[in-house]
Amino acid sequence: MADAKSTPDLWLGTWALGGKGVSGTVKHSKALIDAAYQYGIRHIDTAFFYGNGQAHDTIANAIKNQRSHWHICEKVGLRWASRNRVIHSGSLDAIIHDCQVALRRLRTDYIDTLMLHWPDPHCNLATSIDGLQACVDRGYAQHWGLGNLADTQLHHLINYPNTVYQLEHNCIIDNSAQLYKTHQHAYNLVFSPLANGWLANPNHLHQAIPKSDRRARHPIYTQPSYRAACQDFHANTTTPIEDALRWVIQTPTVHGLILGPRSPEHLHQLILATAGL
Ligand SMILES: NC(=O)c1ccc[n+]([C@@H]2O[C@H](COP(=O)([O-])OP(=O)(O)OC[C@H]3O[C@@H](n4cnc5c(N)ncnc54)[C@H](OP(=O)(O)O)[C@@H]3O)[C@@H](O)[C@H]2O)c1
Repeated sequence: MADAKSTPDLWLGTWALGGKGVSGTVKHSKALIDAAYQYGIRHIDTAFFYGNGQAHDTIANAIKNQRSHWHICEKVGLRWASRNRVIHSGSLDAIIHDCQVALRRLRTDYIDTLMLHWPDPHCNLATSIDGLQACVDRGYAQHWGLGNLADTQLHHLINYPNTVYQLEHNCIIDNSAQLYKTHQHAYNLVFSPLANGWLANPNHLHQAIPKSDRRARHPIYTQPSYRAACQDFHANTTTPIEDALRWVIQTPTVHGLILGPRSPEHLHQLILATAGL
């Protein structure tokens, strides 16, 4: 698709606005979206399962008078199920249905980019792509994209022009090799530049995170090697947020970067940290 940009587009992430699986509060959510707008951010990333729709509602309220100014990326293919579980829903019918629900919740008549959140292990990826394409054909979405692919699935992106590819990328989970393979075919949109908070807050390494926060139970974040890599990072920096963001921004194959602030103050710090990079 595009050649690498010298500075990636900054996107506002909304996982933490959902209020489910996250410790903390959503009371600053509208103020956060307003602040992002003031800083010139016009790309927003959300998902069908963030807060079981609560993130959609917050976005709809915050952007109701500015819809055409925003590029909304909506991810489908994951849903909340009973007992607080998240399940895959990547069938053609599920994708079309969840896109229709997202349009209603977002109170908009189109989504700019509709993505498959994760490949559904119970469903052929080509079938999920047919669902995304059906949404584009019906006018629900303008583009589609994929996220979190295995190396063996990357050809699905490479076979189509103008797709978006979303994956984690930071100095602890370095996905430079995949980004290199996709950057000429897709818009590479990376998330978790602060490793879901571990690179911003060294205290998380020493204090117990509340059980309500999904990071306390995450299979990767609880691995000793992951924590050791984060400890090593903090031992070698006095400006962790700036250094973590610089590392991501300097990856030449990144086109867009999704930030994960929880408050307008977080966003302000992130904007300051990126300003000199
Ligand atoms: N496609 C996917 O599968 C996928 C997966 C994950 C995320 N995403 C998207 O990417 C977005 C960003 O991901 P992420 O939340 O993991 O991003 P991140 O930047 O790696 O982590 C965000 C966390 O960093 C901490 N933080 C952020 N700004 C800070 C600041 N200025 N000072 C101190 N701490 C700060 C907060 O941690 P504390 O909570 O500890 O304060 C916050 O919850 C999400 O909102 C979502 O839209 C997509």
